[in-house]
Amino acid sequence: MTLRHVTVLGATGSIGTSTLDVLGRHPERYRVHALTAHHSREALLTQCRRHRPAVAVLDVEEDAAWLRGQLAEAGLVTEVRTGRAALVEVAEAREVDTVMSAIVGAAGLLPTLAAVKAGKRVLLANKEALVMSGALFMEAVERYGATLLPIDSEHNAIYQCLPADHRGGLGRHGVTQLLLTASGGPFRGWSRKELVSVTPDQACAHPNWSMGRKISVDSATLMNKGLELIEACWLFDARPDQIQVVVHPQSVIHSMASYSDGSVIAQLGNPDMRTPIAYGLAWPERIDAGVETLDLFQIARLDFEPADEMAFPCLRLAREAMATGGTAPAVLNAANEVAVDAFLAGHLGFTDIDNLVARVRDERPVAPAGDLETILEADVLARRAAYDWLARH
Ligand SMILES: NC(=O)c1ccc[n+]([C@@H]2O[C@H](COP(=O)([O-])OP(=O)(O)OC[C@H]3O[C@@H](n4cnc5c(N)ncnc54)[C@H](OP(=O)(O)O)[C@@H]3O)[C@@H](O)[C@H]2O)c1
Repeated sequence: MTLRHVTVLGATGSIGTSTLDVLGRHPERYRVHALTAHHSREALLTQCRRHRPAVAVLDVEEDAAWLRGQLAEAGLVTEVRTGRAALVEVAEAREVDTVMSAIVGAAGLLPTLAAVKAGKRVLLANKEALVMSGALFMEAVERYGATLLPIDSEHNAIYQCLPADHRGGLGRHGVTQLLLTASGGPFRGWSRKELVSVTPDQACAHPNWSMGRKISVDSATLMNKGLELIEACWLFDARPDQIQVVVHPQSVIHSMASYSDGSVIAQLGNPDMRTPIAYGLAWPERIDAGVETLDLFQIARLDFEPADEMAFPCLRLAREAMATGGTAPAVLNAANEVAVDAFLAGHLGFTDIDNLVARVRDERPVAPAGDLETILEADVLARRAAYDWLARH
């Protein structure tokens, strides 16, 4: 068995912690090369004590100095680095074969792309990177021979439901449709009027999944499903009209693929991200993820319904951005990140999240997304437009 050396970008988050849980179950297979966090220095220290990485990364020098002191006291030799360049370094490091991309938001783009360009096995949880730079990202995967494994549970499920080599368009393999399941979030069945007074704590209380706060809000607005739709288009070479969103409140079926002979293939499991993480780490083998096997008798029934795009317009906004193409998805993503931050800080109402995204979309011109500079500029200008809108309201 080959020992794999892993960098976990965003180690202190929900996906990062689950990744370390799976890695810790298989010390004979995996060594942790690097762990990164933004500001969570205490959590990173605990992880360094447990996993003894060669490198740890934090955003600012003050936190790094504190961590260095704590590590020295504990007699640990982990090197502590800071800043964005350090994230890129640990993603492309020669010693590393596998990179878990689990930073939240646009901040994940550059280190993830660096891992791709270094030809690593990239476990992609950070959907925002692909939403922003889809064509460029997938070209780089092809050109640099990276192995890209989707970790988002829906895309991981679809990956498992498709033929091993599914490149070249869905039709080539007799796939007629991808069925992207959605729990519907905590406000399934609510009217637009009822949604107006939703609080951050209500939005972050997801009925089935335990996740970071940004993705929890995205799940509540259905923007998460919109971002996933864009992600699925790039990962599986699909058009938006080949993807149907199916609300499935039990979150047991993680997604499906329909075939031209009438077959529908689904992947099922308990809603626990350690299953797709273990799949990505061990692929094409299977390893213990610490997740219990599904008890179908306990679940007893599975329900399905269409998504309510009137009450939750973010899904439509995302589909339209994908159809528009170019920098439109990067603008959508940037405006959404600003809107979600403002909502979590108590400065924006829940139903104003989609309002803000739509206003920024209307305001910003769309350019071809042929290079990284254009994409990053579209991101910056969309954020500026979003902050301007917030300042006016
Ligand atoms: N959670 C899930 O179940 C789930 C499922 C599918 C996909 N995803 C995707 O996976 C990604 C991570 O989600 P999550 O729920 O794990 O998020 P999370 O719990 O908020 O964790 C985010 C991680 O990224 C770090 N981070 C945040 N901002 C950063 C920045 N500007 N620069 C560098 N590092 C930064 C955080 O460090 P600090 O702790 O220091 O803030 C933390 O380690 C997201 O793109 C999400 O959409 C998550």
